[in-house]
Amino acid sequence: MADRPYTLLSCGISIDGYLDSAADERLLLSNNADLDRVDAVRATCDAILVGATTVRNDNPRLLVRRQARREERVARGLPPSPTKVTVTRGAKLDVGASFFTTGDTEKLVYCPSTRVAAARDRLGSVATVIDGGEPVTMQRLSEDLYARGARRLMVEGGGIVHTQFLTADLADELHLVVAPLFVGDSRARRFVGDGRFPWNPGRRATLAEVRPIDDVVLLRYALSSRFRMD
Ligand SMILES: NC(=O)c1ccc[n+]([C@@H]2O[C@H](COP(=O)([O-])OP(=O)(O)OC[C@H]3O[C@@H](n4cnc5c(N)ncnc54)[C@H](OP(=O)(O)O)[C@@H]3O)[C@@H](O)[C@H]2O)c1
Repeated sequence: MADRPYTLLSCGISIDGYLDSAADERLLLSNNADLDRVDAVRATCDAILVGATTVRNDNPRLLVRRQARREERVARGLPPSPTKVTVTRGAKLDVGASFFTTGDTEKLVYCPSTRVAAARDRLGSVATVIDGGEPVTMQRLSEDLYARGARRLMVEGGGIVHTQFLTADLADELHLVVAPLFVGDSRARRFVGDGRFPWNPGRRATLAEVRPIDDVVLLRYALSSRFRMD
C-alpha cells in the first residue's frame, strides 16, 4: 500500500447524530470557542477535504481565519491556508463558490476518469481537476494527495465522505463535537451512512480525549496506530 497523509476527520453533530437539519438553512452546531479550536487544527494541516454537497450547501471558505496562525504558517514556508480539496462525480459546482474564489491556496477537484474532461471544461479555470479513478476511492485520493506533498489531511465532511474514509479504514483520528440539541428529522444527513466500519462491538475505538468547550463537547478518538496526542 502506498503512503497516505495522517488523516483527521472532524465534524459537529446533534445529540441524535445529525450533521445538519433537513431545512435549507445551515444548522449552527458549533460555538465560537469550538470554531477557534477547529481553526487551530486547520492551521496544522496541509490539505482540507469536503464533499461536493458541502461545497454547494454550505459554501465554506475553508481558510485559516486567525491572522497570527496564517503568519505562522507563512513563516514556516507554507501557504497561509491548507490546500482545498473536494470530490465530485457530476462536477456541478459553481465557479463562484467560496471554495474556489477565496484564499491564496491551491484548489484540487477529484472526479472519476470518465468525467475529467467535462469537469476541466467547467472548473479548469479555478481549480486543478484530477483523475481519481473509476470510481474515485478515498484510498487513491489519499495516496495522490500524499504524492503531492500532503502529510496531514483534515476531512471536514459531509457524511458521504466521512463514511468512505471510515469504512475504508483510512482515518487516524476523529474529532466529534456534540452540540446540545436534537434535530429529530430522519430526512436530515447523519454523520455517517450504512457501512461496515472497522470499529464495532468486537473492536472498539480508543477514546483519547473528552473536552467540554462551552456548551459543546469534543470527543477525540484514536482510530489507528499512527494516532499521536498533541
Ligand atoms: N456538522 C458538520 O460538521 C458538517 C460538516 C460538513 C458538512 N455538513 C453537512 O453535511 C451535508 C452534506 O453531506 P453529504 O453527506 O450529503 O455530502 P458530502 O459528503 O458533503 O458530499 C457528497 C458528494 O460528494 C461527491 N462525492 C463523494 N464521494 C465521492 C466519490 N467517491 N466519487 C465521486 N464523488 C464523490 C458527490 O458529489 P456530486 O454530487 O457533485 O457528484 C457526492 O454527492 C450538508 O448539509 C452540510 O451542511 C456538516
